[in-house]
Amino acid sequence: MFEKIGRNLPCWCGSGKKYKNCHYPIETRLETMEQSGLHIPTRKMIKNADQIARIKESCKVNIACLDAVAEMIKPGIKASEINDVVNEVTYSMGAVPAPLHYEGYPYSVCTSINDMVCHGFPTTHVHLHEGDIVNVDCSSILDGYYSDSSRMFCVGEVSEERKRLVRVTRECMQKGIEQVKPWGRLKDVGEAILAHAKAAGYSVVKDIGGHGCGLEFHEDPFVSHVGEMRYDIVLVPGMIFTIEPMVNAGGPEYVTDPHNGWEVSTRDGKDSAQWENMVLVTEDGCEILCW
Ligand code: MF3
Ligand code: CO
Repeated sequence: MFEKIGRNLPCWCGSGKKYKNCHYPIETRLETMEQSGLHIPTRKMIKNADQIARIKESCKVNIACLDAVAEMIKPGIKASEINDVVNEVTYSMGAVPAPLHYEGYPYSVCTSINDMVCHGFPTTHVHLHEGDIVNVDCSSILDGYYSDSSRMFCVGEVSEERKRLVRVTRECMQKGIEQVKPWGRLKDVGEAILAHAKAAGYSVVKDIGGHGCGLEFHEDPFVSHVGEMRYDIVLVPGMIFTIEPMVNAGGPEYVTDPHNGWEVSTRDGKDSAQWENMVLVTEDGCEILCW
């Protein structure tokens, strides 16, 4: 149930419109759905037009970072050089890298190679070798607004096996995004991802998921990439979240580096890939804000 507001008072969302002409009809419908047992979004999860515009500006920084990274990926470079380029692009656009000092994370970007699932450190010791696959996960803060996306890159000539993992993982993300529409269900996103990964003989990491994003780095809702029912929620316009499946060639189990507490790798040592886009639920479907 939403906190009651007079129908002729300004809407809580800050649009300047009367509640009855803004979120009242949506919330009435959501409350009916809630009574039938569905989980519904909180007001906090819904962004207004002004916030969306500002988040989109932040997304431009993230896209520019990853476009710059795409230009530099080649065998022999150090992961730290990716960190350098992300810093250059980010600061030159007046933004700040979101990962830096986030819960103690010591770099500006994550670079996760081959069997690394996520949160890889871009150090000077890590070199990209011919045949590697690497996820570069970039997040920016511009004027207090957050963006978050990641892409896979193939380093030089890569085996057909690895190329297939990278391609199928991207398809998983895309199939998840296809489920994003007003009055859709968040569980359908994860179900679509899991089904596509399984059909290809792969597994999907369960406990690390996507998330609301924009006013903070990680907001509700949690986006399950396996469609866990307990995270299901009805989707309505103005929600912004990431879809970022981690798909493993072997089993879904992973281990976290006990020394640095961040780097996550597959337990069986098999390869893992990840793609991440940030999406907005619109009046008639979805808009990809960041890739
Ligand atoms: N960018 C990651 C995500 O997709 C989060 C990384 S947390 C960090 O949510 F601290 F490692 F940056
Ligand atoms: Co994310």
